[in-house]
Amino acid sequence: MKKTRDLKEEFSLHQFYHQNTILTYAERYKKPVSFPVCPPKKMYPKLNKIYLSTNDNDTNNGNHITLRKAIKNRKSTRVYNKNNITLEQLSTLLYYSYGVIHMDSDGIIRRPPASAGARYPIELYIVVNNVKDLRKGIYHYNAEEHALCELPNKQYSVSDWALLSSGNEEIFEKSSFLIVMTSIFEKSIQKYGERGYRYILLDAGHIGQNLYLMSTDLEIGCVETGGYYEQEIERSIEIDGVREGVIHLVAFGN
Ligand SMILES: Cc1cc2nc3c(=O)[nH]c(=O)nc-3n(C[C@H](O)[C@H](O)[C@H](O)COP(=O)(O)O)c2cc1C
Repeated sequence: MKKTRDLKEEFSLHQFYHQNTILTYAERYKKPVSFPVCPPKKMYPKLNKIYLSTNDNDTNNGNHITLRKAIKNRKSTRVYNKNNITLEQLSTLLYYSYGVIHMDSDGIIRRPPASAGARYPIELYIVVNNVKDLRKGIYHYNAEEHALCELPNKQYSVSDWALLSSGNEEIFEKSSFLIVMTSIFEKSIQKYGERGYRYILLDAGHIGQNLYLMSTDLEIGCVETGGYYEQEIERSIEIDGVREGVIHLVAFGN
């Protein structure tokens, strides 16, 4: 598995992966490999959709904090008092963090975060506990239509989700909702090979920061979490963990 550097010693997994996914200057004249069209976007055509508002017309009467202020005020919040967050707040959060802001006639889209090769491999699932005007449950965010699809037959219980956390039980339990980021790995791997995995994690970080900044604007507390049991979460949202797997989770509450 040696690639370009002299891997003489035993490498830990991260070193092994990192060294085996470097781009080398020597490869610069290689023709770009052709790759098939990006896998289709994730859709749940048979499920009912809840169309969300975009809040694009500045219905807040322009009463937002500035970007600089949002950056300065951004922080992790871990104590929630089970206060309601509204569906409109959730809609705005999703739209400005990871919505589709513009789609031209050729289907080229523009979204709030940068994404390597515009592959947008990340999907969002919302685990709703306490959102005004929205039933408890698990939803997939359909960004193209700015809509939520409620996943069927989910025995949803906050306590079950608290058990899926490792060290963040109280945060999960008292949160209004959780946003689970998954990745459809092939979207990036197809274009960049194993190196694409690096980009997937970077993409997730961009979305995470957008979520933090938008929550600051909307006065919703949030915290990114790395402590959770992904296999159980993957079972709950019915993804296989191989082609599509959980890579990040952000909790929200007030
Ligand atoms: C990838 C990642 C994983 C994190 N995991 C957790 C976590 O499991 N539990 C937690 O309470 N905070 C978690 N955090 C939040 C950090 O602890 C927090 O960002 C850091 O302490 C800095 O504080 P601040 O966000 O308030 O500036 C995580 C942050 C990141 C970026």
